[in-house]
Amino acid sequence: MKPKVYITRKIPNSIVEKIEYTCDVEMWEEENTPVPREVLENKIQEIDGLFCLLTETIDEELLEKASNLKVISNMAVGYNNIDIEAAKRKGITVTNTPGILTDTTADLTFALLMATARRLVESSDYLQKEEWETWSPMQLTGQDIHGATLGIIGMGRIGEAVAKRALGFDMKVIYHNRSRKPDIEEKLHITFVEMEELLQSSDFLCVLTPYTKETHHLISKEELSIMKNTAILINTARGGIVDEQALYQALVNKDIWAAGLDVFEEEPIPVTHPLLSLQNVVSLPHIGSASVKTRLKMCEVAAENLTKGLNNEKPKHVVI
Ligand code: DGY
Repeated sequence: MKPKVYITRKIPNSIVEKIEYTCDVEMWEEENTPVPREVLENKIQEIDGLFCLLTETIDEELLEKASNLKVISNMAVGYNNIDIEAAKRKGITVTNTPGILTDTTADLTFALLMATARRLVESSDYLQKEEWETWSPMQLTGQDIHGATLGIIGMGRIGEAVAKRALGFDMKVIYHNRSRKPDIEEKLHITFVEMEELLQSSDFLCVLTPYTKETHHLISKEELSIMKNTAILINTARGGIVDEQALYQALVNKDIWAAGLDVFEEEPIPVTHPLLSLQNVVSLPHIGSASVKTRLKMCEVAAENLTKGLNNEKPKHVVI
């Protein structure tokens, strides 16, 4: 008998067909609505493998209901949506999709940095709303990117890819990470600094660290108060790393200059959220990895991880 698999969102047929070679597949057929918790609670009881997204909370309570589950394949590099310890206790293999989305996410991080620094969304709205009456010396002026200091929190794959892009803009790059990365420092001529110096010296601060208990609200009131009042915060990692209330206050009080956010503490962020009312915030709906090529590759790799795990082969990307 083939192992049973549940896919929590509509993915391309070509990928489903590949999984079907070795598995019996059922899929939540909606593209824009996450699978309801009750449905997942039901399905989890009878499946051997789960293909899920970062929108599904795979917690201990859910895992308790699973009696045959062997593999959880998360179609994301981040896996903070899964209770890894609970999965480990149940002997479930958890896989993710690292490496594939590195450059696409670095591109988006840089696009967001540029859009925020040069007020692109606000300027476009200005034109559309017919507010553009004349050219004026200080109209819609932003911050220079070239020659500025970029601070990176988290020097993993994406951090390194963002640093590379910054060098092309003649930026000075400093970083903070749990451990130093001497090879990257040498290769890219970037400098490790302590967190306080990173906050004090950065013109742009990019948050690119994984979201864990330790990094929850890593950027909060105190950290924001240390930053330059011309500084721009960019977050393309996970919303929970930045305390949004503190960020809102810092932006309103002009303690920092602007923020570019692709991720939020609650996703989707309610449109009534105070942060979205600020002109100095550029906000995006978690599209860091959203290029056609990368998303297809992520689907493909997540499918491979799943089928290998279910067919007694070692998946390429095992978290635990
Ligand atoms: C990930 O893979 O963790 C990203 O956030 C998805 O874009």
